[in-house]
Amino acid sequence: MKLHHDHWRDCQEWIDYGTPMSTTSNETCKLYDAALTQYVCYYDDPTLGGIMGCLDRLVKNEPNFVLAHVFKNGLDAIAVANSVRTDEEFAKSVNHMVTLGKTQNISDRERKHVMAVKQWTDGNLAQAAGIWDDIVCAYPRDMLAIKFCEMSNFYLGQKQQLRDNMAGIIPQWKSSMPLYGYLYGMYAFGLCETGAYDKAEKKAKMGLEMVEDDPWCSHALVHTYEMAGRFKDALNFIHETENNWNGFGALSGHIYWHEAVYNIEKGNYEEALGVFDNQLKERGEKLQSMLGMYDAFSLLYRLELEGADVKDRWSSILETHKEHFDEHVLAWNDVHLLIGCIGSKNKKAEEQLMDSIRDYIKTSSGYNRGVSKEVLVPLCEGLLAYESGEYDKAVDLVFPIRYKIVKRDIFDQFLIHAAIRSTSKENKQRARFLLEERTALKDNSPLTERLRQKMVSLHDD
Ligand SMILES: [Fe+2]
Repeated sequence: MKLHHDHWRDCQEWIDYGTPMSTTSNETCKLYDAALTQYVCYYDDPTLGGIMGCLDRLVKNEPNFVLAHVFKNGLDAIAVANSVRTDEEFAKSVNHMVTLGKTQNISDRERKHVMAVKQWTDGNLAQAAGIWDDIVCAYPRDMLAIKFCEMSNFYLGQKQQLRDNMAGIIPQWKSSMPLYGYLYGMYAFGLCETGAYDKAEKKAKMGLEMVEDDPWCSHALVHTYEMAGRFKDALNFIHETENNWNGFGALSGHIYWHEAVYNIEKGNYEEALGVFDNQLKERGEKLQSMLGMYDAFSLLYRLELEGADVKDRWSSILETHKEHFDEHVLAWNDVHLLIGCIGSKNKKAEEQLMDSIRDYIKTSSGYNRGVSKEVLVPLCEGLLAYESGEYDKAVDLVFPIRYKIVKRDIFDQFLIHAAIRSTSKENKQRARFLLEERTALKDNSPLTERLRQKMVSLHDD
């Protein structure tokens, strides 16, 4: 593993850089830098104790350094999806951070960081994203805010913000500043998400020229090739650069996931299953890895929609992640957990999860509760209806909310399958409509063509 910079910045250097820290300890500043660098570069350096090791040392060395608590709680909340509803220790840690934020003499920027993490953990996801956006605008070199802002925009499906934030940020850096090259991968992903594929490719390649082993930048390029229907370019890139990005945990798994998705597109289901067995299963079974869980379940579900026999590759992953059933941190987590229950044919788990979601909606408030009520529940009920062969019901539930679903492709495929199998005239027309939507969105997709042929073979009206 390469270190991306190993001169950790002291108090004065953070002041010169534009984001002063409320501490007089150079050691604190340096440890913060070491943790931040590992986070941005997606690695845990064992000689430093990894990201969490650095943050633990920070808290131990200077317990009142608020940003250490912000960093730690923010990571637990956003990356690991810890919940203050179910994890007492985590709730205490967040409350302690809030108390410190009120009692310590800290800057307005640091106070906003406290507020943002608190809002996120309370389920007020959009409000949290708004605060991180404020920080980034006022302090465009605050890398922790940039990363949290990016993650929140990603989970909220705020594609324009993903793109435009980076357009505002990059010109306010100097290319000699630590971690500068990583901004390009983030920008490329935002461009890709908003359909600017040529520009996304250009920025990703610029980023990889500066940091050839930035896995997020590699992912942005692979994702761009996928959206543009350039499967050959994607597979060539994946195979030629594998050594640059394959040592980065769940994110590396996600790049392999793209490889498997290309194989599904081409109808090579056995190859996709091979990628699952070699790269995704073990990552999916890790409790802390929500990305690993999403990728494993979404790949298996896509394969089953296509009619492939994935056998019981589901249960071991579901068993691990049952611990997340009552958390309800993100609707995105919950729908993947339900997909895992459906795939495992575990009715008891399905009921347990759905009861827990409904109970959460009854007893909570905030942004995530609203999304769960308006989008998550009809989506889950639609998936369950499909499983019971009630295809018209599935379409009636999900078609009206499809634009509210973040990262839609898996659900577009599901909806097309459901609409094709529906009997009502209205839903058959919806199938035609959805096929055209997917055709326009994804160039050169053999999967769309297969779905179109299926439609023709089932209905000649
Ligand atoms: Fe992706």
